[in-house]
Amino acid sequence: MTFDFDSQIDRTNTGSLKWDKYRDRDVLPFWVADMDFKSPPAVLDALHQRVDHGVFGYTLATDEAVEAVLSYLERVHGLQAEKEWLVWMPGLVPALNVSAAAYTKEGEEILTCTPVYPPFLSAPVWRDRVLKTVDLKIESGRYTFDWEALEEAVTPSTRVFILCNPHNPVGRVYTREELEKVAEFCERHDLVLLSDEIHCDLLLEQGAKHTPMLKLGEETAKRTVAMYAPSKTYNLPGLACAFLVVPDAGIRNRYKLCARGYITEVNSFGYTGCAAAYNHGEPWRQELLQVLRNNRDRLYSFVRQMLPEVKMYPMEATYLAWMDVRALGLDNPVAHFEQYGIGLSNGADFRAPGFLRFNFGCPPAMMEEGLTRLKAAYDAAIAQPVS
Ligand SMILES: Cc1ncc(COP(=O)(O)O)c(C=O)c1O
Repeated sequence: MTFDFDSQIDRTNTGSLKWDKYRDRDVLPFWVADMDFKSPPAVLDALHQRVDHGVFGYTLATDEAVEAVLSYLERVHGLQAEKEWLVWMPGLVPALNVSAAAYTKEGEEILTCTPVYPPFLSAPVWRDRVLKTVDLKIESGRYTFDWEALEEAVTPSTRVFILCNPHNPVGRVYTREELEKVAEFCERHDLVLLSDEIHCDLLLEQGAKHTPMLKLGEETAKRTVAMYAPSKTYNLPGLACAFLVVPDAGIRNRYKLCARGYITEVNSFGYTGCAAAYNHGEPWRQELLQVLRNNRDRLYSFVRQMLPEVKMYPMEATYLAWMDVRALGLDNPVAHFEQYGIGLSNGADFRAPGFLRFNFGCPPAMMEEGLTRLKAAYDAAIAQPVS
């Protein structure tokens, strides 16, 4: 290994959302989706240089950042995008909220598939839109779309479909076939497609391939807002830099009109970090993927052997494992696991009560400590009399 994925870095007093949640408690955090690794050295060098420049005025997207993104999209995903298609954002969560307002009127419907990343569920509601959800179904041991249920759920008032691919929290990398069906569904019902692809550079399954929605033909591209960011892959969420790729001028302008005055520019460091990550981060990413694959495999086999009542689904991508703990009969699974020193995300927030999400984007030694605590919590749950 050229890069350091082993050091356990003290993140106290850095305002870390992940760690400060348990500031005064002996609870190791495996919840929110950031990793406990330093960003690639090339990113740190670029940020140091930017600091040394010393002037931090209002900042437009730098040519370097734009070119880095366009070249990344082409090199990694075979997507030829144009500069004008890019809309820079300080995050994809604000982008989901702006989109909800831009593409629907009050009372109109936004459709998505659950379980899913919670801001997909809150954005429509916060904008007084109607949220419609359809559960993914399990087929041959993995999550996929329930087309019958989707056809039943969609109505003439539905305007938007939000797709998560790869899908947080279930870890699916949808196949081209599945995505062609999504595209056809959106066309047939004339829906704007918000395609959140933030996890697309974290594919763990050998042979898995990410299919950008924008590559599924002109008709699909015309109705798609594709959402990307370097933040998950290169561990930069605190730099607040994300971008949308929106080929259709009409769709893009509706978005921009809605965002104007509310959404700040990306900050200077965001553009710098983004450019450095895409231009120079690939060797680091390749090693990261190896570390994540090892962590994933270790977690899988540990759960299978030591926690047999817990069900896990294959994680094809992301550093987020999805665990079904319903068989443990716990009233409050998150609180129970916290009692044994391990902080996990609550499945109920994703519309799946009785599930937990485990973030394994951390040094292997930290994960081992997490596994020990997971086992202690599991044993205590099993030992409880069923009420
Ligand atoms: C699917 C998905 N979209 C968006 C985000 C967050 O995006 P941002 O930090 O750019 O707001 C996350 C973070 O976990 C995510 O999983």
